[in-house]
Amino acid sequence: MKAYKLAAIPGDGIGTEVISAGVEVLEALASRDGGFAFKVDQFDWGGEYYKRHGRMMPENGRDLIRKHDAILFGSAGHPEIPDHITLWGLRLAICQPFDQYANVRPTRVLPGITSPLRHVVDKELDWVIVRENSEGEYAGVGGRVHQGSPLEAATDVSMFTRAGVERIIRFAFKLAQSRPRKLLTVVTKSNAQRHAMVMWDEIAAEIAREFPDVTWDKMLVDAMTMRMVMKPQSIDTVVATNLHADILSDLAAALAGSLGIAPTANLNPERAFPSMFEPIHGSAFDIMGKGIANPIGTFWSAVMLLEHLGEKPAADRLMKAVEKVTADPRFHTPDLGGKARTTDVTAAVIDAIHGAND
Ligand code: IPM
Ligand code: MG
Repeated sequence: MKAYKLAAIPGDGIGTEVISAGVEVLEALASRDGGFAFKVDQFDWGGEYYKRHGRMMPENGRDLIRKHDAILFGSAGHPEIPDHITLWGLRLAICQPFDQYANVRPTRVLPGITSPLRHVVDKELDWVIVRENSEGEYAGVGGRVHQGSPLEAATDVSMFTRAGVERIIRFAFKLAQSRPRKLLTVVTKSNAQRHAMVMWDEIAAEIAREFPDVTWDKMLVDAMTMRMVMKPQSIDTVVATNLHADILSDLAAALAGSLGIAPTANLNPERAFPSMFEPIHGSAFDIMGKGIANPIGTFWSAVMLLEHLGEKPAADRLMKAVEKVTADPRFHTPDLGGKARTTDVTAAVIDAIHGAND
C-alpha cells in the first residue's frame, strides 16, 4: 500500500478550520479506498509563529517539507502583521523556491450553487485559469528610497523571462488540449505594457504551432473581465501573468457563486519539488473561530492533490461527494446564503464518500 507523506500547513485565520476538515476528508477517502494512506505532518507556521519567533516559518522550513509528496496549505495573513510580510514569509517563500510555477485555478458553477450572473447554469461556466506563479509582477524586484522625505520614490518592476513565459504558456496549451473544447485564451495587456507583454504575445504565437489542434485567441485583461461577465460560455482555458490572473481568478470565483468554493494547485510540473494545494479564499478574520468557514474550497483543492498524486478514482469520488453536498442547500455555509457549519459540510462529504457508489 502506498503511504503518501502530506505536509499540512494550516497558517492563519480560517486556514486552521478548513485544513483540519481537509485532512479528515482525505483520511476518510484513504480508508474507503484502501489502496493508499496518508502520513500527515502538521506545521504550525504563520502569523502566530511569527509573533513567537520573528519569522513566518523556521529557517530550515523548506528542508522539512522538501521530501513530502504534497503540501496542503490553508492561508497566510494576520491582522497584526503587514500583508507583504505574511505573504513573502510563507506562501511565496514556498512557491518560488519550490518552483511551483503553474498555478491552476478551476472554476465551475457547482450543483446547487447560484451564479450571480443571470441565466448562467452548470456547464456554461467551466473554466481553468492558469496563473504564472514564479515571476512577473511578483518577482520582488524593486526598491524604495528617501522614505519620509518628499523625494520618496518606489518601484515594483515586473520581470518576465523567456524561459518562464514559454513554460507557462506551453503548460496552458497542454491543459487546454486535454480538455474537451481545446480552447485557450492568452491574456495580456500588450497595448499599454509594450515590452514584456508583447513578448508574451510573440511566445504564445510560437508555442501555438506545437498545438495545431488547440484553438486559441488573445485578449487584453480589461476586455477579458467584460467577456467573463458577458460571454462566459465562450471561455475554457485561460493563461495570464501572476497579477492579471490573480485578479481574474477572484472575479471567476465570485461569478461561480463564492470565493469559499474556489481551489488552487501550485504545481511544479517536473516534480522536482512538492506541489502545494490551497483554497483561494485567504484567512477571513471576520469569520475565524466561528466554525462557519466553507471547507469546499479545501476539498476541491484536495481533489487536485489526489489527481496530482495519480489517485484518479479517489479524486473523482471526492469531487462527486462534493457535488452531492453542494446540491443540498442544507449544507450551504453562510457565504452561500445558508446556515450550515464547517463540521456539517465535512460530515456530509464524508458520508457521501462512503456511499459514493450508491
Ligand atoms: C491569491 C491571493 C494571494 C495572491 C494573496 C493572499 C497575496 O490573493 O492566492 O490569489 O495575491 O497571490
Ligand atoms: Mg488572489
